[in-house]
This record gives sequence, C-alpha cells and structure tokens, in this order.
Amino acid sequence: MRPRSIRCAPLLTGTLIGLLTGPAGAEPPPDPRRGEAFFNTAFVAAPSPATLRDGLGPLFNAAACDQCHSRRGRRARPGDGEPLPNALVVQLSQRRPGGGWAPHTAYGTTFNPLAVAGVPAEGRVIVHWRTEQGRYADGKNWRRQAPDYEFQALSHGPLGPEAAFSVRGAAALDGVGALARIPAAVVLARADAEDRDGDGIRGRPNWIVEDGEPRLGRFGWKANHPDLESQIAAALINEQGISTSRRPESGCAPPQKRCQAAPNGGEPEMADDDLAALVAFVAGLAPPAPVAGHDPAGHGAALFRALGCAACHQPSIEWREQGQPVRLAPYTDLLLHDLGEGLADHRPDQHAGGREWRTTPLWGLGRARRAGLPACYLHDCRARPLEEAILWHGGEAAASRDAFTTLPAPRRRTLLDFLEGL
Ligand code: HEC
Ligand code: HEC
Repeated sequence: MRPRSIRCAPLLTGTLIGLLTGPAGAEPPPDPRRGEAFFNTAFVAAPSPATLRDGLGPLFNAAACDQCHSRRGRRARPGDGEPLPNALVVQLSQRRPGGGWAPHTAYGTTFNPLAVAGVPAEGRVIVHWRTEQGRYADGKNWRRQAPDYEFQALSHGPLGPEAAFSVRGAAALDGVGALARIPAAVVLARADAEDRDGDGIRGRPNWIVEDGEPRLGRFGWKANHPDLESQIAAALINEQGISTSRRPESGCAPPQKRCQAAPNGGEPEMADDDLAALVAFVAGLAPPAPVAGHDPAGHGAALFRALGCAACHQPSIEWREQGQPVRLAPYTDLLLHDLGEGLADHRPDQHAGGREWRTTPLWGLGRARRAGLPACYLHDCRARPLEEAILWHGGEAAASRDAFTTLPAPRRRTLLDFLEGL
C-alpha cells in the first residue's frame, strides 16, 4: 500500500528514499528512476512497515522483476532432473466443458512454486531432457534437446486431463519501449495470414480484446499483451502477487482458501503512480546495439536474408513520427507464425494458436554470451547453443531451417557469428 505522505521514507530501501522527495501537489510525470527502484527491489509479505513494497504473494514466482529479467539477457537452462528456475514460468489453462479455455480451476493462470509463510506453495516442475539427433548435409551430426515436464508436490491435486500449460522464459527487456511505439499499421502491413504471396510465410497479428476493442498484441512469447502496462500489471499479479488497479484480483484460485485468507498489502497493493513509474522505466530501456564493426563485409547479413530468416526476423522497421523518420533493427515482425509441432505448446493464448509464436526480436541476442554469462534460447529456454534454436524451427520456418542444415560448416559459422554480434 502506498500512503500519500512520505513519513515512511526511513523504512524504505536506500534507492527509494532519494526518489520520494518530489514536491506535493500536482501529479508529476512518471519518474523512471523511481520505477527502476521498483524493478530492482524485492517485495515483502504483508503486513510490513515497508508499505511501498509489501503485499508479495501470497503465491509468487519471484519477489522482484530483476530476479527474472536480468539486464544483460542472462538466462540459464536447468539441468536434467532439476526444477525449473524462477525465471521459467509455467502458464496454465483448462478446457471449458462447453468449449474454449479458462484459467485452471485449482491453480489459476500461473503456476506459483513459492508462497509466503503459512500458505502452501503450488508445487514444483521438474524438467527431463530428451536428446534428438540429425545430420547436416556436410555429414556432421547435430543434436537438440526436447523437454518433458513432471509436476511434483502439487498442493491441490493433479492438473487433470483438461489442463494445458506453457513454459516461458523471461528475456532482457531492452528495446521493448521502442517496439511499443511502432504504429500498428506498420506491423499489419506485413501480415499475410492467407499467404497471398505464396512464399510459405504467413504471419498474423494476435488481437487482444479489451472493453470490446481489439488491440494489436505485441509483448510476450505469443504477443499476448497489447501494451507494456498490460504486460507489467500481469507480471505483478501473476508472478509477484501484487495487485494494481489494472489487475485488482486476488491471484488466489477458488479452492485455495489459505491463499485467500492471507493478509494483503492494500487495495490495490501498488498505487497507480508507482505502476506508471515502473512502466516508464521499462519503456525507457534503450534498444540493444550490435557489436561495433560486426559483420564488416555483410556476409552474415546476406546469408540471413538468403536463408529466408529475414521474412520473419525483420532486420529493419521504419516509420515517421512527427515528420521525423524512425528506424529500428529489431529482427522481428511482431507477428505470430506457426513454427511446427516440435515447438507447439497446444495452449491457445488470446487469438494465438498452440503452434504459433511471436517472432522473437533478435537484437541483443549475443549479449549474454559476450559477457561470459549463460544463455538459452526459445520460449522455454530449451535451446543451447544457439544453433539448436535454428534446428527447432519448423512449420512456416521449415524451409529456412532446411536451408541452414544444407550449408557447409564454415557458412553455418558465418551465420552464427552474425547472430551473436547482434
Ligand atoms: C518470475 C519471473 C518473472 C518476473 C518476476 C517478472 N517477469 Fe516479466 N516476464 C516473464 C516471462 C516468463 C515473460 C514472458 C511472458 C509471456 O510470454 O506471456 C515476461 C515478459 C515480460 C515483458 C514482455 C517482454 C517481451 O519481449 O515481450 C515485459 C515488458 C516484462 N515481462 C516486464 C516485467 C516487469 C516490469 C516485472 C516486474 C514487475 C516483471 N516482468 C516480472 C517472467 C517474469
Ligand atoms: C516463419 C517465421 C520465421 C523464420 C523464417 C525464422 N524464424 Fe527464427 N523465430 C521465429 C519464431 C516465431 C521464434 C520463436 C519460437 C519459440 O520461441 O518457440 C523464433 C526464434 C528464433 C531464435 C531464438 C531467439 C531467442 O532469443 O530465443 C533464433 C536465434 C532465431 N529464431 C533465428 C532464426 C534464423 C537464423 C532463421 C533463418 C535460418 C530464422 N530464425 C527463421 C520465426 C521465424
């Protein structure tokens, strides 16, 4: 809960104190530095004297944004037989008896492996890796790892045959504010749901209907959120258990009585101006820049286009803002594509189907590895090293993947070097 006065300042973390000294009166514009403090500061269980940041849970996955979204894109893949780390979130739903999908009746929309004292956590998810093998045209073998999941220690019984789940990793957020600014018409101009041009690449928007108005989905692995506030309010309620005026619900599924009975941190737990500051901070994270002097002769970029990667991973998006040209190199079209059975989660999300995923932006792709940090790729973090991500492409991207596997090893290396310099 956020009282209007600043009496509580001494109880806050050092970062927050200095940011609370603005003048009273007219609403100041959202302060991204204040938002950064919220991004990095762990929420605590209610009741707490730290009223600005209490209300964690009762069920949650992590206490702060930065526990999942590392600034340098670090993501570690769990080992065989290990539980999923916090940053790999399991989203849930359940088939409705009459058709369509709803949140899971016992566990809600997000599986929460953590809980505050006195409330049972929902359980844990163990991953088992299965190795699949194949051969490049030059005779070298390739391998890729497929995940199998096992739910253990479930607090409210088995998930049941009507449940569907989707395992999703947290990516670095640099550049999301720029993606939010791309005019919807620019994105829609690239959509080709019926494949009218016959190139095998479709691409369709995910439509998110709010208050009867369809809006273009942009964020999340299935473009399941139309704007940053929607995505961030969802993260707050689903993964940290913090309510906002945009998502005022309790976050406790109907049978979870101890979750419902636990104290909350106010209604809502995060005030509108604090949410606005957090959104302003995330929106201001500059797009990642490629390595200087990277791919000097342009061989990698040419190969990327020749293999058909650029049909989805759009190397350049341009538009005009107040008469000025704006150009981004996000390597995404923000559209959904069918990537085949191998990557399917069989769980529809808004208008996205079970085999569809948003083209992942590739900017910043090599940053974690360049910093010597672990990295893994694709929505569920299954791919490591990078070439495994390409080998998993199927569906609309099958021809592109096959073209990659027919390249001789040095040309494959040229492409991977290009990707790692982005
Ligand atoms: C427990 C881990 C976790 C926490 C904590 C978390 N996130 Fe996320 N975040 C994710 C996952 C997983 C996704 C992908 C969600 C999806 O596909 O629906 C995501 C997606 C996002 C996206 C969209 C990125 C994109 O490229 O589309 C934004 C923005 C974001 N989170 C911001 C935040 C902020 C701000 C916070 C803190 C309030 C936060 N997240 C807390 C795991 C987390
Ligand atoms: C039909 C559209 C399409 C084509 C063509 C395509 N991709 Fe993708 N790519 C996607 C989608 C969608 C994803 C997200 C899949 C997922 O996470 O399950 C993705 C994910 C990736 C990733 C993982 C990024 C990350 O951070 O997790 C890499 C790397 C990648 N693509 C590289 C390539 C390369 C290289 C090519 C050409 C050989 C290519 N893609 C062709 C649509 C495409």
